[in-house]
Amino acid sequence: MSLQSSDNRGQWGSKFGFIMAAAGSAVGLGNIWRFPYITGQNGGGAFVFVYVLCVLLIGLPLIYNEVAFGRLTGKNTIGAFKNTGANKFWMASGAVLALLVSFFVLSYYSVIAGWTIGYIISEFTDFIKDFSTFQANPSYVIPFFAVFMLVTILIVLGGVSGGIEKASKILMPVLFLLVFLVMLRSLTLPGAMEGVRYYLTPDFSKINGQVILAALGQAFFSLSVGWGILITYGSYLPKSNNIVTSGVWIGLMDTGVALLAGLMIFPAVFAFGKDPAQGTALVFQVLPEVFNSIPTGGNIVGASFFLLLCVAALTSSISMIEVPASYLIDEKKWSRKKAAWTVGILAFLVGIPSALSGGASKLFTEMSIDLFGSTKTGFLDIMDSIWGGLFIVVVALMTCIYTGWVMDVKKLSAEIGLGAPVFEKKIIGGLTASQLWIFFIRYVCPLVILVVLLNMIGVFGVFVGT
Ligand code: PHE
Repeated sequence: MSLQSSDNRGQWGSKFGFIMAAAGSAVGLGNIWRFPYITGQNGGGAFVFVYVLCVLLIGLPLIYNEVAFGRLTGKNTIGAFKNTGANKFWMASGAVLALLVSFFVLSYYSVIAGWTIGYIISEFTDFIKDFSTFQANPSYVIPFFAVFMLVTILIVLGGVSGGIEKASKILMPVLFLLVFLVMLRSLTLPGAMEGVRYYLTPDFSKINGQVILAALGQAFFSLSVGWGILITYGSYLPKSNNIVTSGVWIGLMDTGVALLAGLMIFPAVFAFGKDPAQGTALVFQVLPEVFNSIPTGGNIVGASFFLLLCVAALTSSISMIEVPASYLIDEKKWSRKKAAWTVGILAFLVGIPSALSGGASKLFTEMSIDLFGSTKTGFLDIMDSIWGGLFIVVVALMTCIYTGWVMDVKKLSAEIGLGAPVFEKKIIGGLTASQLWIFFIRYVCPLVILVVLLNMIGVFGVFVGT
């Protein structure tokens, strides 16, 4: 049964539904496309080890923080900061920036998600000859991008429990099933074990500053931390929900899918003698070839894989629309319909330069800026570095300093404790879980993120690319 709160904002119908929606937001292109290629560029097993530590020590406390902040205030991201007395500085650097991050990432994320639709079709029709000619053809990329955005808008129109929750409850289990299917095929290829070894045996000598930074950035991107999403989703959460266990589930599923995605991709990459460190093209350039060379049923495996990527992206893109849309619905009293269409269409228009930056337009393809010590070329890459790389970390930092130091952090820990008695139990050295969490939110998380951020923008004199 779905409940409507008195102000008509909507609420999750069930705990399972909330977890599926939040995990749906977390599990996306970040897990299946970004995680493997970043792992490949950062040395395989050692990166995986550091990544898991980042999720546990920094990601999980921040998930609790954002969900509790949303539920305590019962507001969208902007409303949550405003309601707790944030001044202009915190509004701009925390709330408004979070909203902009969600909006701008949506604009290019949907372009990449659109490619997956092309690849699903191509598994049966072979119309994509290679990645670069496909990407350079506007009559392919624009319509696929438009279709993806349209489906996203239609789901968000259905509302919190009817649209987002219902879609996630169906799509997420389908996704898990597809991951297993493709993984099994990949693991049974001759020569697959070399990939498994590369992926799962950590060579600790490969861990350095760059690896740690890449791991932390990837953890934020993947867990949907630092975007205002979990604040918004938390605001639809009933007080009785156990935030502690829900958070563990979200983290487990997100990390689980990322780890399994590695098991789908690396065995195949090694079985076919490809280079694991080749970067963003890993999924789109290598895998179709891999699928093609499977004697029978390769196109079914391939289509399933890209369908899976598309489904994962869809449950993420709906959450990105929801952040600006919930602001317009709550604060500007817009109807859900008007808000979803406006945000979706604007994001589509803003995304067009990204869609054309794979070769279709010389201007958008060749524009480049020097950022964080490396040159980013092409509109999409530039957008990703600015919004998905830099500002996401800034928002995570600001949110955590604001809730830890400006607000009364005890209120937030009490909010987490509401549906989760375990939070007040002593766990380590006489400290309760809630005291430990406060220590992390006030000291560990902001300090670690600050170091990452300063490094990223080159303050220590050494540039470490993202
Ligand atoms: N976590 C998503 C992914 O891994 C990206 C995302 C972030 C989606 C924030 C929605 C909100 O792809």
